[in-house]
Amino acid sequence: MFEVRNITMIYNMEQSDKVYALSGFDLTLPDKGLIGIIGPSGSGKSTLMYCLSTLKKPTDGSILYNGKELTDLNDHEREELRRNEFGFVFQRHFLVPYMSAVDNVIVAAADHSVPAKEKAKSLLESFGLKKSEYNKRPAQLSGGQRQRIAIARAMINDPEVLFADEPTAALDHENAFAVMSVMRSYAESRLVLVITHDRSILKQADRVIEMWDGTVSTERHGDSV
Ligand SMILES: Nc1ncnc2c1ncn2[C@@H]1O[C@H](COP(=O)(O)OP(=O)(O)O)[C@@H](O)[C@H]1O
Ligand SMILES: [Mg+2]
Repeated sequence: MFEVRNITMIYNMEQSDKVYALSGFDLTLPDKGLIGIIGPSGSGKSTLMYCLSTLKKPTDGSILYNGKELTDLNDHEREELRRNEFGFVFQRHFLVPYMSAVDNVIVAAADHSVPAKEKAKSLLESFGLKKSEYNKRPAQLSGGQRQRIAIARAMINDPEVLFADEPTAALDHENAFAVMSVMRSYAESRLVLVITHDRSILKQADRVIEMWDGTVSTERHGDSV
Protein backbone atom coordinates (compact mmCIF):
# COMPACT_ATOMS: atom_id res chain seq x y z
CA MET A 1 0.00 0.00 0.00
CA PHE A 2 1.19 3.51 -0.84
CA GLU A 3 0.51 6.58 1.24
CA VAL A 4 1.62 9.74 -0.51
CA ARG A 5 1.65 12.94 1.52
CA ASN A 6 2.15 16.41 0.11
CA ILE A 7 4.34 15.24 -2.74
CA THR A 8 6.19 17.90 -4.74
CA MET A 9 8.51 17.44 -7.67
CA ILE A 10 10.41 20.35 -9.15
CA TYR A 11 12.71 19.79 -12.11
CA ASN A 12 15.60 22.16 -12.86
CA MET A 13 15.58 23.21 -9.21
CA GLU A 14 18.83 25.17 -9.52
CA GLN A 15 17.84 26.95 -12.72
CA SER A 16 15.58 29.80 -13.68
CA ASP A 17 13.25 27.55 -15.69
CA LYS A 18 11.90 25.52 -12.77
CA VAL A 19 9.20 23.01 -13.68
CA TYR A 20 6.62 22.07 -11.06
CA ALA A 21 5.79 18.54 -12.20
CA LEU A 22 3.98 17.57 -8.96
CA SER A 23 2.61 20.29 -6.78
CA GLY A 24 1.74 18.98 -3.35
CA PHE A 25 -1.11 16.48 -3.05
CA ASP A 26 -2.03 13.40 -1.05
CA LEU A 27 -2.92 9.97 -2.42
CA THR A 28 -3.51 6.54 -0.93
CA LEU A 29 -3.28 3.41 -3.06
CA PRO A 30 -4.47 -0.05 -1.98
CA ASP A 31 -2.64 -3.42 -2.01
CA LYS A 32 -4.45 -4.69 -5.06
CA GLY A 33 -6.63 -3.62 -7.93
CA LEU A 34 -6.31 -1.98 -11.32
CA ILE A 35 -5.77 1.75 -10.99
CA GLY A 36 -5.69 4.02 -14.01
CA ILE A 37 -3.89 7.35 -14.13
CA ILE A 38 -5.16 9.58 -16.90
CA GLY A 39 -4.47 13.17 -17.88
CA PRO A 40 -3.00 15.34 -20.62
CA SER A 41 0.63 15.20 -21.67
CA GLY A 42 2.81 17.04 -19.16
CA SER A 43 0.34 16.72 -16.26
CA GLY A 44 2.81 14.75 -14.12
CA LYS A 45 1.63 11.15 -14.61
CA SER A 46 5.03 9.66 -15.37
CA THR A 47 6.72 11.71 -12.67
CA LEU A 48 4.24 10.39 -10.10
CA MET A 49 4.83 6.82 -11.21
CA TYR A 50 8.61 7.25 -11.14
CA CYS A 51 8.44 8.68 -7.62
CA LEU A 52 6.22 5.81 -6.40
CA SER A 53 8.54 3.24 -7.94
CA THR A 54 11.71 4.94 -6.56
CA LEU A 55 13.10 5.68 -10.04
CA LYS A 56 12.91 9.34 -9.06
CA LYS A 57 13.06 11.05 -5.70
CA PRO A 58 10.51 13.79 -5.06
CA THR A 59 11.72 17.25 -4.10
CA ASP A 60 9.50 17.25 -1.03
CA GLY A 61 6.84 15.20 0.73
CA SER A 62 6.54 11.63 1.95
CA ILE A 63 5.83 8.31 0.25
CA LEU A 64 5.17 5.36 2.54
CA TYR A 65 5.20 1.91 0.96
CA ASN A 66 3.87 -0.67 3.42
CA GLY A 67 4.90 1.70 6.19
CA LYS A 68 8.42 2.24 4.86
CA GLU A 69 9.50 5.78 3.94
CA LEU A 70 10.75 5.54 0.36
CA THR A 71 12.37 8.96 0.30
CA ASP A 72 14.78 7.85 3.07
CA LEU A 73 16.14 4.82 1.21
CA ASN A 74 19.64 4.85 -0.28
CA ASP A 75 20.34 3.84 -3.88
CA HIS A 76 21.08 0.24 -2.99
CA GLU A 77 17.86 -0.13 -0.95
CA ARG A 78 15.84 1.40 -3.76
CA GLU A 79 17.37 -1.00 -6.25
CA GLU A 80 16.60 -3.98 -4.00
CA LEU A 81 13.01 -2.84 -3.56
CA ARG A 82 12.54 -2.46 -7.31
CA ARG A 83 14.08 -5.84 -8.01
CA ASN A 84 12.12 -7.69 -5.33
CA GLU A 85 8.73 -6.00 -5.35
CA PHE A 86 8.14 -3.95 -8.48
CA GLY A 87 7.63 -4.75 -12.15
CA PHE A 88 7.77 -2.26 -15.03
CA VAL A 89 6.17 -2.01 -18.44
CA PHE A 90 6.83 0.95 -20.72
CA GLN A 91 5.39 2.27 -23.97
CA ARG A 92 8.23 0.64 -25.85
CA HIS A 93 8.73 -3.00 -25.04
CA PHE A 94 12.57 -2.92 -24.81
CA LEU A 95 12.83 -6.61 -25.69
CA VAL A 96 16.24 -7.97 -26.70
CA PRO A 97 15.99 -8.29 -30.50
CA TYR A 98 18.18 -11.37 -30.89
CA MET A 99 16.50 -13.38 -28.11
CA SER A 100 13.43 -15.56 -28.45
CA ALA A 101 10.13 -14.63 -26.79
CA VAL A 102 10.66 -17.08 -23.96
CA ASP A 103 14.31 -16.04 -23.39
CA ASN A 104 13.23 -12.41 -23.20
CA VAL A 105 10.99 -13.36 -20.27
CA ILE A 106 13.58 -15.54 -18.52
CA VAL A 107 16.26 -12.87 -18.76
CA ALA A 108 14.53 -11.00 -15.92
CA ALA A 109 14.04 -14.04 -13.68
CA ALA A 110 15.76 -14.13 -10.29
CA ASP A 111 17.31 -17.47 -11.30
CA HIS A 112 17.52 -19.12 -14.70
CA SER A 113 16.50 -22.58 -13.56
CA VAL A 114 14.18 -25.03 -15.31
CA PRO A 115 11.20 -23.83 -13.19
CA ALA A 116 11.85 -20.26 -14.40
CA LYS A 117 11.65 -21.47 -17.97
CA GLU A 118 8.43 -23.36 -17.28
CA LYS A 119 6.97 -20.32 -15.59
CA ALA A 120 7.93 -18.08 -18.52
CA LYS A 121 6.17 -20.46 -20.89
CA SER A 122 3.06 -20.67 -18.76
CA LEU A 123 2.88 -16.86 -18.54
CA LEU A 124 3.16 -16.59 -22.33
CA GLU A 125 0.54 -19.29 -22.72
CA SER A 126 -1.87 -17.55 -20.35
CA PHE A 127 -1.33 -14.35 -22.38
CA GLY A 128 -2.52 -16.10 -25.52
CA LEU A 129 0.80 -16.80 -27.25
CA LYS A 130 0.98 -20.06 -29.15
CA LYS A 131 3.70 -22.62 -28.47
CA SER A 132 5.05 -22.07 -31.98
CA GLU A 133 5.64 -18.41 -31.07
CA TYR A 134 7.75 -19.01 -27.93
CA ASN A 135 10.93 -19.34 -29.95
CA LYS A 136 10.28 -16.46 -32.32
CA ARG A 137 12.22 -13.23 -32.05
CA PRO A 138 10.41 -9.94 -31.31
CA ALA A 139 10.63 -8.82 -34.97
CA GLN A 140 8.64 -11.89 -36.04
CA LEU A 141 5.74 -11.05 -33.70
CA SER A 142 3.03 -8.37 -33.62
CA GLY A 143 3.17 -5.23 -31.47
CA GLY A 144 0.58 -6.68 -29.12
CA GLN A 145 2.46 -9.95 -28.76
CA ARG A 146 5.68 -8.07 -28.06
CA GLN A 147 4.01 -6.02 -25.37
CA ARG A 148 2.51 -9.13 -23.77
CA ILE A 149 6.02 -10.62 -23.69
CA ALA A 150 7.23 -7.45 -21.97
CA ILE A 151 4.46 -7.84 -19.38
CA ALA A 152 5.37 -11.50 -18.85
CA ARG A 153 8.96 -10.36 -18.27
CA ALA A 154 7.74 -7.78 -15.75
CA MET A 155 5.73 -10.48 -13.94
CA ILE A 156 8.28 -13.30 -13.87
CA ASN A 157 9.30 -12.49 -10.29
CA ASP A 158 5.69 -12.01 -9.09
CA PRO A 159 5.99 -8.30 -8.28
CA GLU A 160 3.73 -6.85 -5.61
CA VAL A 161 3.21 -3.79 -7.79
CA LEU A 162 3.17 -3.60 -11.58
CA PHE A 163 3.85 -0.12 -12.98
CA ALA A 164 2.83 0.42 -16.59
CA ASP A 165 3.52 3.77 -18.32
CA GLU A 166 1.42 4.07 -21.49
CA PRO A 167 1.69 0.31 -22.15
CA THR A 168 -0.85 0.37 -24.97
CA ALA A 169 0.12 3.65 -26.64
CA ALA A 170 1.81 1.93 -29.59
CA LEU A 171 -0.93 -0.68 -30.09
CA ASP A 172 -4.15 -0.93 -32.07
CA HIS A 173 -7.37 -1.39 -30.12
CA GLU A 174 -7.52 -5.15 -30.32
CA ASN A 175 -3.97 -5.53 -29.02
CA ALA A 176 -4.53 -2.83 -26.41
CA PHE A 177 -7.49 -4.76 -24.99
CA ALA A 178 -5.51 -8.02 -24.99
CA VAL A 179 -2.78 -6.30 -22.98
CA MET A 180 -5.31 -4.75 -20.59
CA SER A 181 -7.03 -8.06 -19.95
CA VAL A 182 -3.70 -9.57 -18.89
CA MET A 183 -3.18 -6.72 -16.45
CA ARG A 184 -6.77 -6.89 -15.26
CA SER A 185 -6.31 -10.48 -14.12
CA TYR A 186 -3.00 -9.70 -12.40
CA ALA A 187 -4.80 -6.93 -10.52
CA GLU A 188 -7.08 -9.48 -8.82
CA SER A 189 -4.25 -10.22 -6.39
CA ARG A 190 -1.72 -7.36 -6.84
CA LEU A 191 -1.60 -3.65 -7.44
CA VAL A 192 -1.44 -2.63 -11.10
CA LEU A 193 -0.95 1.04 -11.94
CA VAL A 194 -1.57 1.99 -15.57
CA ILE A 195 -0.89 5.39 -17.09
CA THR A 196 -2.80 6.07 -20.27
CA HIS A 197 -4.20 8.71 -22.60
CA ASP A 198 -6.96 6.36 -23.66
CA ARG A 199 -10.00 6.35 -21.44
CA SER A 200 -11.59 3.42 -23.25
CA ILE A 201 -8.99 0.96 -21.97
CA LEU A 202 -9.82 1.87 -18.36
CA LYS A 203 -13.38 0.55 -18.43
CA GLN A 204 -12.39 -2.31 -16.16
CA ALA A 205 -10.35 -0.21 -13.75
CA ASP A 206 -11.27 -0.29 -10.06
CA ARG A 207 -10.36 3.35 -9.81
CA VAL A 208 -9.29 6.16 -12.12
CA ILE A 209 -7.08 9.02 -10.95
CA GLU A 210 -7.22 12.07 -13.17
CA MET A 211 -4.20 14.36 -13.19
CA TRP A 212 -4.07 17.98 -14.24
CA ASP A 213 -1.15 20.35 -13.99
CA GLY A 214 0.81 18.39 -11.37
CA THR A 215 -2.05 17.48 -9.12
CA VAL A 216 -4.89 14.96 -8.78
CA SER A 217 -7.98 16.67 -10.14
CA THR A 218 -10.59 13.91 -9.81
CA GLU A 219 -10.83 10.34 -8.62
CA ARG A 220 -13.51 7.89 -9.55
CA HIS A 221 -14.08 4.46 -8.10
CA GLY A 222 -15.47 1.23 -9.45
CA ASP A 223 -18.89 1.42 -11.04
CA SER A 224 -18.82 5.11 -11.82
CA VAL A 225 -15.77 4.67 -14.07
N1 LIG B 1 13.68 15.19 -16.59
C1 LIG B 1 12.94 16.30 -16.67
N2 LIG B 1 13.53 17.53 -16.62
C2 LIG B 1 12.78 18.65 -16.69
N3 LIG B 1 11.45 18.67 -16.79
C3 LIG B 1 10.81 17.49 -16.87
C4 LIG B 1 11.52 16.24 -16.80
N4 LIG B 1 10.63 15.22 -16.87
C5 LIG B 1 9.42 15.79 -16.98
N5 LIG B 1 9.53 17.15 -16.97
C6 LIG B 1 8.41 18.11 -17.02
O1 LIG B 1 7.56 17.83 -15.93
C7 LIG B 1 6.18 17.95 -16.30
C8 LIG B 1 5.47 16.62 -16.05
O2 LIG B 1 6.02 15.64 -16.94
P1 LIG B 1 5.57 14.12 -16.97
O3 LIG B 1 5.56 13.60 -15.57
O4 LIG B 1 6.42 13.43 -17.95
O5 LIG B 1 4.06 14.24 -17.48
P2 LIG B 1 3.14 13.17 -18.24
O6 LIG B 1 3.69 11.81 -18.00
O7 LIG B 1 1.77 13.38 -17.68
O8 LIG B 1 3.19 13.55 -19.70
C9 LIG B 1 6.17 18.40 -17.74
O9 LIG B 1 6.09 19.80 -17.76
C10 LIG B 1 7.52 17.95 -18.26
O10 LIG B 1 7.97 18.75 -19.32
MG1 LIG C 1 4.39 10.36 -19.34
